[in-house]
Amino acid sequence: MNDSQTLDELLASRSNHSRRVVEPCTVVIFGASGDLTSRKLIPALYHLALEKLMPQPFRIVGFARREKSDDSFREELRQALDRFSRTKPVVEDVWNAFAQNISYCQADISDPEGYARLKSILASYPDEKLRRNLLFYLATSPSQFGDVTAQLSNAGLLHKENGMGTPERIVVEKPFGHDFESAEQLNGELTRYAHEQQIFRIDHYLGKETVQNILMFRFSNGIFERLWNREAIDHVQITVSEKLGVGLRGGYYEEAGALRDMVQNHLLQVLSLVAMEPPVSLEAECIRDEKVKLLKSIRPMTPAQVMENVVRGQYFAGEVDGEMRPAYRSETKVRPNSHVETFAAMRLFVDNWRWSGVPFYLRTGKNLPLSASEVRVQFRPAPNILFAARQGSKLDANSLTLRLQPNEGISLRFNGKVPGSATELRPVRMRFDYDSEFGAYTPEAYERLLLEAMAGDATLFIRRDEVETAWRIVDAIRNAWVNKPLTNREFYAAGTWGPAASDDLLERDGREWRNPQGLK
Ligand code: BG6
Repeated sequence: MNDSQTLDELLASRSNHSRRVVEPCTVVIFGASGDLTSRKLIPALYHLALEKLMPQPFRIVGFARREKSDDSFREELRQALDRFSRTKPVVEDVWNAFAQNISYCQADISDPEGYARLKSILASYPDEKLRRNLLFYLATSPSQFGDVTAQLSNAGLLHKENGMGTPERIVVEKPFGHDFESAEQLNGELTRYAHEQQIFRIDHYLGKETVQNILMFRFSNGIFERLWNREAIDHVQITVSEKLGVGLRGGYYEEAGALRDMVQNHLLQVLSLVAMEPPVSLEAECIRDEKVKLLKSIRPMTPAQVMENVVRGQYFAGEVDGEMRPAYRSETKVRPNSHVETFAAMRLFVDNWRWSGVPFYLRTGKNLPLSASEVRVQFRPAPNILFAARQGSKLDANSLTLRLQPNEGISLRFNGKVPGSATELRPVRMRFDYDSEFGAYTPEAYERLLLEAMAGDATLFIRRDEVETAWRIVDAIRNAWVNKPLTNREFYAAGTWGPAASDDLLERDGREWRNPQGLK
């Protein structure tokens, strides 16, 4: 290791000192026989155990209706782990020690006796913190959130408390409502029995390392932050593209569409981190205050402005990676004349001092040529003199790309001289690559999120006003689409970068989409 590497590691470990020690904690999973538990939650908790990050001691209780013993529940989870663990093989010793802490509480979610049973399981723990530091993970349908919290409260397991000590916490997953009203109602149900600070709403994008890095990158590097405004930036593109089609999720997707499924949560979250003002401190509330402020500064649109600034798309049959994909309308549980969008692109303006006049182009879609998420910050071009005057539109403007996944990294594009006697310029790239700098370490988003929830830190979770503000933005768009069927320019072949209407959106502004690139 050379001197500069040693220094880098020293600096890194110093900032690591601030990591909070997680107190002994019990995680109770409601709806524990479902997919989420075996696919995501248990693999994530197992990996935390593998990395020695689980609190000591800890307990996990699965709460669900199906008949099972502790042993058969553990056995089922063990088998699922073989399939879903991100590292293989599963380390038997670690699993055995981990599984000792798992038990099962068989009960119907609406039956008070189940909660009494849960209470006696908790009461049997010798460590007081295991009895009191409780994380209730609601891996159930949102329609059951209200019932579970009411039952927990009646059983004396959930106390509405405002941040003193470590009160019980509730973790919920998306979909968090399907519009502003339903989200507000859901929030109302949850906050009847729990304080807002006890509610941890997951958006798994916030658990991704690279998404967290957006804030660190922005607020720890003087050179970029100085350029992060309308003076230097021409526009920003945020792309979250997926190679997968809707597959077996047609039933869900018919109700959701790309706007509810991806824009309301993941894309608006990424946008708010890219564009928010520096928070007063790193406290969860300060960061979330700034994110909400940003969402509130997004310029509202009338229905006519929606039609001008937002584009939908739906895929028809086509090839992705040499594999034929059916049209969305032929997918299982999709109406044959469906007008649900599998693609959405939009131009948003953030009406604040920093961003006035800078367009933010967002797009997401299924069955696109590549699965990639990235933020591309396009800087203003150089003045139209000297080389720019000579090269005209061939001279590339600088850009900075934050690649969120895969091939996580950051690259800066600028012009360089092509060696030789001619005065020839071409774009070159400077690239930071997570894998080569830090080794292949890609923890699942759920690992980080569960750890933070156990520690009671809400920074990476979505606050009530964030969810509701995001729904207002999305609702305005949806309302403008009512009774407006898709037009021809809004269909795209699977395996292409979306409909022609999406290209039109940028072309009108004299710009073009820059598509994420494949492997390095
Ligand atoms: C989920 C959506 O929230 O995010 C899915 O419901 C989508 O439709 C997924 O595929 C994308 O997540 P990731 O982590 O694969 O980018």
